[in-house]
Amino acid sequence: MKKIDSLRTIGLLIIYAVGLMSFGSCSGDEEKDEEIFELSPPVVNTATNVTMSSFLATWSKVPGADHYEVDVALDEDFSEFLNGYEAIQERSVELNVKFLEANTIYYVRVRTSIDEELSVNSNVITATTESEPGPEPPEPTTPLKEAAGFNVGNIVQASRLSGQYQTILSSEFDQITAEYEMKMNIMYPSEGNYDYSKGDAIVDFAVDNGLEVHGHALVWHNATPSWVENFSGTDAEFEIMVEDFVKTTVERYKGKVRSWDVVNEAFQDGGSSPLRTSVFQQKMGDDFMAKCFQWAREADPDLLLFYNDYNMIYDATKLQSVLDMVDDFQDRGIPIDGVGFQMHISYNSPSKSQMAAAAKKITDRGLLLHFAELDVRANPDNSMSSLTVQREEEQATKVREVVEVYNAIPEANKFALTIWGVKDNDSWLMDFWGHIDWPLLWDSNFELKKAHTGFLEGLE
Ligand code: G3I
Repeated sequence: MKKIDSLRTIGLLIIYAVGLMSFGSCSGDEEKDEEIFELSPPVVNTATNVTMSSFLATWSKVPGADHYEVDVALDEDFSEFLNGYEAIQERSVELNVKFLEANTIYYVRVRTSIDEELSVNSNVITATTESEPGPEPPEPTTPLKEAAGFNVGNIVQASRLSGQYQTILSSEFDQITAEYEMKMNIMYPSEGNYDYSKGDAIVDFAVDNGLEVHGHALVWHNATPSWVENFSGTDAEFEIMVEDFVKTTVERYKGKVRSWDVVNEAFQDGGSSPLRTSVFQQKMGDDFMAKCFQWAREADPDLLLFYNDYNMIYDATKLQSVLDMVDDFQDRGIPIDGVGFQMHISYNSPSKSQMAAAAKKITDRGLLLHFAELDVRANPDNSMSSLTVQREEEQATKVREVVEVYNAIPEANKFALTIWGVKDNDSWLMDFWGHIDWPLLWDSNFELKKAHTGFLEGLE
């Protein structure tokens, strides 16, 4: 029996040991296991469910955590907490952050709390709420050249032939004019030394993009190189030099430049003596323009020859001087095909009737009419620091009126309507008048303005 008793004792001891291991001590006063949890911060995940006014912050579970403390701030230093989101206590591992501003960056960090002790801060995540839906993209509009029954032009500079300039010029327009790089002071910088590099670049751009080129301007007192202004030779030598310049230039672009402003702004502003004083008038005589037109015709029999000037609508005296010249040329058989009205106007002037009356004096003489340099000052009195919706609408109305007048002239007299610049901040007007303005059809970010719609409405 001894042996059996020993075996029973051993068995009982084994059962006791197993019990201890499985369930701890059997004594009635069990001591709680003192499991030690590491007081570490959670790892905060990338924000999810982001909207204009909320996002969901989630983080990893930390063993033993009683709860978590969540901070949401407006800056990465957490110096400015989002109202109501400083040390928010959260038992789960997520928090929906709500009532936020759109398009705003928020910063989130979390701490773990175990037995009323706090861990260090977690990593910081950012959440950027979505932007307010932008204005509906404008309806795609018809390109100006497709809507017009005449050439619609704009100006270029050799340094502005790529990117959005190229996109707009090639899609909206069918003619270009060099703003300044096909004038004498650029093409003939010193005696005997022609420099057609910029003109060539512009003409090549036109050919590459299927655009016509209006040449501007062979003879203009404001773009005369200084060596010509101070010409040291005789008047006869001066005239030979000018003839050579006109013919060399016209021949160079023959077949690519279909029209030229042969002379620009030769008449006084409402003055008593019609002709402006210039080195051309002084050294070649009052008939200098007739000579230039004849030379241009000799150089290219197919070229359209224009005279171009400003204030033709406001200044009846100047317009009459131009009409007298046209009548004289036509009487003498001096070639002239058209007249350009520069159309540097304002949102509130001139009126349609004034424009139409002046235009008729040209078309009645069987000439082509070029509205050559349209820009519409929205801020002529410098009373504005930004373009208001109302003033933009008034500008669009004036553009519509200009186009209506031009579109109403006889088909045989239509040539082109050229706008003097692509985007507002390209305009010469700011330099000239010394204050801000928004005179064109695209804004400074190449965004369409109401004036573009006004142009299309003028064609309806
Ligand atoms: O682009 C150069 C720049 O690189 C250089 O640093 C700077 C200083 O020399 O000159 C810049 O070129 C200037 C250019 O405008 C571009 O801003 C020329 O000097 C300046 O002479 C030229 O002025 C042009 C002006 O005619 C004289 O050619 C204007 O852009 C142009 O809008 C203006 O246009 C005239 C028409 O031809 C005729 N009707 C009036 C109209 C306005 O004056």
